[in-house]
Amino acid sequence: MAIAKFLLDQLHERRQRAAQGGGPDKIEARHEKGQMSARERLGTLFEPSTFQEFGMHAEHSGQLFGLAGKTLPSDGVVTGTGFVDGRPIAAYSQDFTVAGGSLGNIHAKKICDIMDYAVHAGMPVVGFNDSGGARIQEGVESLSGYGKVFFKNVYCSGVVPQIAVIAGPCAGGAAYSPALTDFQIMVNKSANMFICGPEVIKAATGEAATMDEIGSATAHATVAGNIHFVANDDAHAVALVKKLLSFLPSNNILDPPHQLNTPLVLSPDPGMNELVPEDPKAPINVHVVIQRLVDGGDFFEVQMDWAKNIVIGFARIQGIVVGIVANQPLVRAGTLDIDSSDKGARFIRFCNVFNIPIVTLVDTGGFFPGKAQERGGIIRHGAKMLFAYASATVPKITVIMRKAYGGAYLAMCSRDLGADLVFAWPTAEIAVMGAEGAVKILYRNEIKNAADPKAREAELSKEYRERFASPYQAAELAMITDIIEPSETRAMVGVALRNTLSKRETRPPKKHGNIPL
Ligand code: HXC
Repeated sequence: MAIAKFLLDQLHERRQRAAQGGGPDKIEARHEKGQMSARERLGTLFEPSTFQEFGMHAEHSGQLFGLAGKTLPSDGVVTGTGFVDGRPIAAYSQDFTVAGGSLGNIHAKKICDIMDYAVHAGMPVVGFNDSGGARIQEGVESLSGYGKVFFKNVYCSGVVPQIAVIAGPCAGGAAYSPALTDFQIMVNKSANMFICGPEVIKAATGEAATMDEIGSATAHATVAGNIHFVANDDAHAVALVKKLLSFLPSNNILDPPHQLNTPLVLSPDPGMNELVPEDPKAPINVHVVIQRLVDGGDFFEVQMDWAKNIVIGFARIQGIVVGIVANQPLVRAGTLDIDSSDKGARFIRFCNVFNIPIVTLVDTGGFFPGKAQERGGIIRHGAKMLFAYASATVPKITVIMRKAYGGAYLAMCSRDLGADLVFAWPTAEIAVMGAEGAVKILYRNEIKNAADPKAREAELSKEYRERFASPYQAAELAMITDIIEPSETRAMVGVALRNTLSKRETRPPKKHGNIPL
């Protein structure tokens, strides 16, 4: 007794056909371009033999205009689940070798189904986007398919982490599915993403634009801020996905993968004191501070090439997964401007929704002054930082390293914005505005009439810093938890993170707040 051979043959033949996608020639053509096939991408992501495919045999009905008699294996998208570092992850991977990975009705249904499954089972979703967009032959049904995918992206948002890899073309409205996810990783050279391509821009406005300028990974990573990571190739993109997942919980109910067995190190790190220059005007490279603060110097920076005046990323401090938000004094004096506010606020909200404690490192000259900023809406954009911090209920630990002036002091997670603990170094300067600006307002005439105005201004600035911007003034007003040596930071933050791990904060019930977008 055994199962009929022809049934097994049929199954194996169908499996083989699906596995070949658009056929060996098309897969070979991709290899020649240095790209993986849709299934190879998933094979690289998942641990061997853990992939459980959903809908391998699903395919368009064949009755649709232009597709009669055509076979589209798996309808051009491979979906399913598998393990990454022992944790289940849902994924879809568009197959460019099948009708250009174009999205039709069944293709969209498969993507939506795997997202539904991910939400119910509480696992992250990783999507490999590589598609010519809406499947032209399916007409408005493919448009509707995109609508359903967008809806599902939003449905998943804040429940399970969503990561989009843009591994090939991502044209027109199709770019909005990646944009609705939490993190976008774009493969350099082989991927491009745009709403209106160069030809459409030329036809509509007469403006000349190259694909490099508007749709390349570099343009998105450095100018537009649309993506979070640039990968050198498909394998690197998968490595970045895995690294990112290593800091994230599987869903919004779980904690991130802390390493609670890591022994607490409470001894000081004298090297941290050495990092602080004597001259208050000499900037610190905040990357060097972060490097010393986090476990093994392992800081996974997010959006490293955009709005560099703020640095964001994931790390562990004494075993606890944290999101780090830090001013970078080397760029625009660490000021908050439109882009850095957008960058910081979105990251804070991601951390909050996925239970990741936030460590904020402050050294900022304030909000960036300028006509373009005011006209560009710095009020609206800067308000996002205030909103994001004030609404975050995860543990919030702030370290004021040096300058914390004006609204930017508040916007970098002050006590009043809900920080659980605020540590300040003795070098902290906390005041309504910077010394130079303040003395010009307070002592205008005195400076003007002085024998040596420059020298008098410098003298008054020094006095202002000592009297009005001293961290002890803020400490006396109970605005900070303690003043600590830089060398004590890692120990203090480590203990603070352990102490606040079980923090629970409830707010009045509401649908959602109204963040200024
Ligand atoms: C159906 C498509 C397709 C599409 C590509 N193909 N795009 N089939 N619908 N949208 C098919 C091609 O016919 C071809 O089939 C195969 O995929 C490979 O395409 P090529 O053009 O040969 O590949 P390449 O030269 O690499 O060019 C890739 C491309 C180009 C740049 C993506 O195919 C292209 O421009 N496609 C159309 C893009 C587009 O305008 N899409 C609609 C965008 S609007 P064969 O059988 O020859 O192998 C949109 C609306 C969404 O998406 C709105 C959501 C709100």
